[in-house]
Amino acid sequence: MRVILCGFGAVGQGLARLFESRADDLHARFGLKPRIVGVADSGGAVHDASGLRAGSLVAAKARGGSVASCGGRAGMAGSELVADADADVLVETTSSNYADAEPGMSHITAAMARGMHVISANKGPLALAFPSLMELAAHNGVSLRFSGTVGGGTPILDYAKNSLRGERIVSFRGILNGTTNYILSAMAGGMSPEGALADARSRGYVEADESLDLDGIDAAAKLVILANWVMGMKVTLPDVERTGIRGVGADDVRRAAGAGSAIKLIAECDGGLSVGPSDVRTDDPLCVNGTLNGISFVSEHSGTQTVIGRGAGGTETASSIVRDLLDIRRDMASR
Ligand code: HSE
Repeated sequence: MRVILCGFGAVGQGLARLFESRADDLHARFGLKPRIVGVADSGGAVHDASGLRAGSLVAAKARGGSVASCGGRAGMAGSELVADADADVLVETTSSNYADAEPGMSHITAAMARGMHVISANKGPLALAFPSLMELAAHNGVSLRFSGTVGGGTPILDYAKNSLRGERIVSFRGILNGTTNYILSAMAGGMSPEGALADARSRGYVEADESLDLDGIDAAAKLVILANWVMGMKVTLPDVERTGIRGVGADDVRRAAGAGSAIKLIAECDGGLSVGPSDVRTDDPLCVNGTLNGISFVSEHSGTQTVIGRGAGGTETASSIVRDLLDIRRDMASR
């Protein structure tokens, strides 16, 4: 399977390394032989139909700041690579942009127009245009997969869509942003809001644009993806009523603790869509701490079930991309 990577940060590098470290296993167990034929990052791109090695790509990026220094072209845009290179799948891992979803949106639409399947770990295009991207994929006869956008390597979307198939999910609520959960957990442990934010920053948890975490934008994007994929809603980011955690103070955290609860940033789909701080009882399985994500699905017949796991990380998200590749190969075989 020929793969183009747009974006070569922690997820792209994690995926390239995973393809190599698990090459024998992926082939023996699943018959999967991924070959990276092109990589683009913000500094340029490299293309080689015979395959690119993870070690060379990572070294080039570390040395020259871009994969272009691995025999590619500085300044070459991802959309040029997608237009030039022949591949079966585009893996889109550029940063989520919630203003216009670029450059990911252009990469995805150009790949679909060329008949490539798409795996996006980038939430921006899905949060802003999920319904039309699904239509575009159907129109072009390709698959669009995005397991890594919600829950990192924890198969939250897959659980709701496939493990609960045949059920009717009535509602769900979850902790979908690890950074704010870390901050709120630290505050519950006695840290000031400023101290907790500084601690999260020092650990590298906080997004470069901290508003994405603190104002609930990242959680809202994940909620939109879940609502479309799991609940069949046709919604985008502006449909979410959103409040972040900036207004949560030490007094609020103490009051919640006194009542046997903790304040969590909860993304909820229960008729409408909302993200905001909410009390969760400490004996509720959803009340996870640190950077963990958790989500409780309420189903008509099988009751409430909670999925918990790490919601971010390069290797974790790369593993969800492998799941998507296996699903795409199954789709291709059944067509
Ligand atoms: N900023 C996100 C989080 C990263 O803290 O959960 C994963 O999407």
